[in-house]
Amino acid sequence: MNILVTGGAGYIGSHTCVSLIEAGHTPIVVDNLSNSSEESLNRVARITGVQPVFYKGDVRDEALLERVFSRHAIGCAIHFAGLKAVGESVAKPLDYYGNNLGATISLCRVMCAHGVKRLIFSSSATVYAGDNELPLRETSRTGDCSNPYGWTKYMGEQILRDLTVSDPEWSVVLLRYFNPIGAHPSGLMGEDPTDIPNNLMPYITQTAIGRRPHLNVFGNDYPTPDGTGVRDYIHVVDLAKGHVAAIDYLCSHTGAEVFNLGTGKGCSVLEMVKTFEDANGIPVPYRIAPRRPGDLAEFYADPAKSLAVLGWQTRHDIGDMCRDSWNWQSKNPKGYRE
Ligand code: NAD
Ligand code: UFG
Repeated sequence: MNILVTGGAGYIGSHTCVSLIEAGHTPIVVDNLSNSSEESLNRVARITGVQPVFYKGDVRDEALLERVFSRHAIGCAIHFAGLKAVGESVAKPLDYYGNNLGATISLCRVMCAHGVKRLIFSSSATVYAGDNELPLRETSRTGDCSNPYGWTKYMGEQILRDLTVSDPEWSVVLLRYFNPIGAHPSGLMGEDPTDIPNNLMPYITQTAIGRRPHLNVFGNDYPTPDGTGVRDYIHVVDLAKGHVAAIDYLCSHTGAEVFNLGTGKGCSVLEMVKTFEDANGIPVPYRIAPRRPGDLAEFYADPAKSLAVLGWQTRHDIGDMCRDSWNWQSKNPKGYRE
């Protein structure tokens, strides 16, 4: 099937292109490269032997989308395109609401016009409220987001649910990702943050390679076993395969359905540092720093619904994630800008 992949040059999108090609699908990528490099798609080609068709442009450009839908018989869309930096979203809320909601609305408008009514949406565990019991289930309470980025995901989900109510032909899968890390095991593709990383794993790998003097561990006085924050880290290749599993569901159902994509297991910051050091034989110097505002002590998924309904489960453990992240970083110290 031809699958429109918005944001397909990005971290999760490019790994998903590999999984789609491996599953016999044809990705058609639209990306404005605001947070990525076209080189990621050349790496997809090196891994799979297939160069994805690529349109450089903004998903909010409906004339561009019109051309894409007219030229290719698109079967469904996976909508990754969006801005994702939590701190930046607090500083630039209009950019985040404008880009993330604007892109979703434009995409759906053009899809409606072309009678393509199957969409997979990149949502996030950030939509869950902070006071839920763990593990987080798809039925756990959402809302009370602590930043505009989180609200764009919450509102994006609502827009898509409303669309399925307005037109029963629509089929939407809302995938709530937990914490994606890791890289393709070839070392050819991985996460490539342009600025100082906000997230834990890219900060660890940049510290290990000497680009940062030490990791700041944000708080060691949380009510967790070692006092540091606990998250559900998921290997990006497992996450990519979750999208392939969701396509089968998408094509045989209508309405909107939510799935968690996580492992179901929590890992603390210090456990991650230790596992990285053990897996790669590289020290990661760290210092305990104050808590980061807005952080929760702990969250992890209940992935049972994804297993029961999509037949999907994760295969990779934290050691694999640490090894593959380091393999990518050490082979590409400057990411795709080599
Ligand atoms: P990423 O920044 O690597 O990829 C997003 C891609 O979208 C980039 O290539 C960017 O250039 C492109 N883009 C942004 N706005 C666009 C627009 N208007 N038109 C065209 N292209 C546009 O991020 P990622 O980590 O691959 O995340 C993919 C999706 O998953 C995002 O929607 C993100 O919010 C969501 N998500 C990510 C995480 C995570 O921790 N990485 C967690 C939960 C959800
Ligand atoms: N952490 C550090 N030092 C760092 C970076 C992070 O100690 O330099 C800690 C954090 O305090 C937290 C854990 O590592 O305890 C994970 O932090 P990340 O920033 O990697 O991930 P978050 O869980 O805070 O958030 C990420 C995305 C969100 C998304 C969420 C769930 O940034 O947008 O995962 O998908 F919603």
